[in-house]
Amino acid sequence: MSLVQATWMDRLLRPVHRWVWLSAERRASKLFRFAETEADGGRDISRAAELTGDPLLRRLYLRHAQDEQRHCELFKQRGRSILEEMRLDPKRKKKFELNWLSPGERGLDDLRVDSEREDYLLAFLHISEKAAAARFVIYRDVLQRDPQTRAVFDNVLKDETFHMNYTYQQLVRVAPRGHGWPLWRARLNRLWKGYLRLAVALAAVLGSVMLLAQYFIILPIFAVLAKRAARRDPPGWFERNRPATLRGQY
Ligand SMILES: [Fe+2]
Ligand SMILES: [Fe+2]
Repeated sequence: MSLVQATWMDRLLRPVHRWVWLSAERRASKLFRFAETEADGGRDISRAAELTGDPLLRRLYLRHAQDEQRHCELFKQRGRSILEEMRLDPKRKKKFELNWLSPGERGLDDLRVDSEREDYLLAFLHISEKAAAARFVIYRDVLQRDPQTRAVFDNVLKDETFHMNYTYQQLVRVAPRGHGWPLWRARLNRLWKGYLRLAVALAAVLGSVMLLAQYFIILPIFAVLAKRAARRDPPGWFERNRPATLRGQY
């Protein structure tokens, strides 16, 4: 069984991850969001079990789906416990979740079971599970101050490692000669989705900056010009110099 390691980027960002997971409120909301992704992934993998004609894959997919449902329950339970503990703390403030920096089992939320070939589906699952397992390693490592949440990640990580390994072994079984391309396709797809997420996040930031600039820089200029124009107008009602014409409205 392959050992899972955090990526070099996540290792480099370890202090940032530690800071992200330090806030109890952020921890709870992240766990709830992770639970949603796990449940969603579990449903899609159950669908894959229905669709496959391979009895071994069906058994493995069903176990996989049960695991994801169990992860959902584990994350939810821990999230609820943290919220219970937080009720005792009246000094809490709303925190940013920073989802782009520390996502959950991302990938399963992009799963399209009905339209994928078996080898492509296995490759996609393998790459997604590998990424999730690597992320859960870093989350577990930075959660030294919260041993209960750390134990949840430790527990989930064992299953993610199994998912990562079985999907690869089955991919090699299903496509013994041609499993390189499905893996590359899944990696490229993941890269593309990552780029799209980044582009959307960047567009949102740029949109906010543009609106703020319009509000604080361009709008005051127009306000000053309007005030100047108003000063030039004579006060009160005044008659127009030009005689009214019956050919137009004014
Ligand atoms: Fe999972
Ligand atoms: Fe998984």
